[in-house]
Amino acid sequence: MKMLVANWKANGDLKLIEDIAGIFKGKNVQNIIFCPPSCFFSLLKKHIPHAILGAQNVSDKENGAFTGEVTAKMLNDIDISYAIVGHSERRIHFKEKNTTLKTKLLLCKKYNIAAIFCVGENLAEKSANLTFKVIKKQLEVAKPFVKNIIIAYEPVWAIGSGLTPKIEEIQNTCQFIKGLGYKNVLYGGSVNSENYNNIITINSLDGVLMGGVSININELNKIFKA
Ligand code: PGA
Repeated sequence: MKMLVANWKANGDLKLIEDIAGIFKGKNVQNIIFCPPSCFFSLLKKHIPHAILGAQNVSDKENGAFTGEVTAKMLNDIDISYAIVGHSERRIHFKEKNTTLKTKLLLCKKYNIAAIFCVGENLAEKSANLTFKVIKKQLEVAKPFVKNIIIAYEPVWAIGSGLTPKIEEIQNTCQFIKGLGYKNVLYGGSVNSENYNNIITINSLDGVLMGGVSININELNKIFKA
């Protein structure tokens, strides 16, 4: 079964949680990792007790006077088993650099949280045929964790744009990443109920990371039934 990661980003409210619970209550959701904003973890768990939860981010600090941070140990304490690390929105808007990301990956490992590490080229890099080079460089910090990290290939230009690479491009990139030793590779960027069926036919792909559609009840329903 392919893995589905639902990244709500800074979206969602009680109504969304109730609607999502309406779709998933009592169903087998063992292949879905729900990543709501962390303040909603317990509410989502209350509505869908068997849901597997992931964090959208984790602190690069282990503990201490860092107002507003949520640490890997705290996530582990409340049974969060996954965390997205290095999403392009964090790299771009919060200026997260490789050294920070490496520390986050180390803390995830220390506290038993499976990191979903995002990589991908921007449009200029794609146009210059630099996709593999960019990804290889981004993956340098992930090397020590090659055995248990999950890689999400997310071209920056595809996120939220309605655009996706061609199927063979996703396949080639996925194979490139697997060739570097990574076992689990997801695709993310404008996945929707129409392209989902095609994307998951890619044999070497282990699943998808969804943003926009993960908070769209109709789309989510269609994808879950697909
Ligand atoms: P999108 O977002 O599905 O809305 O393009 C994907 C992501 O940011 O991970």
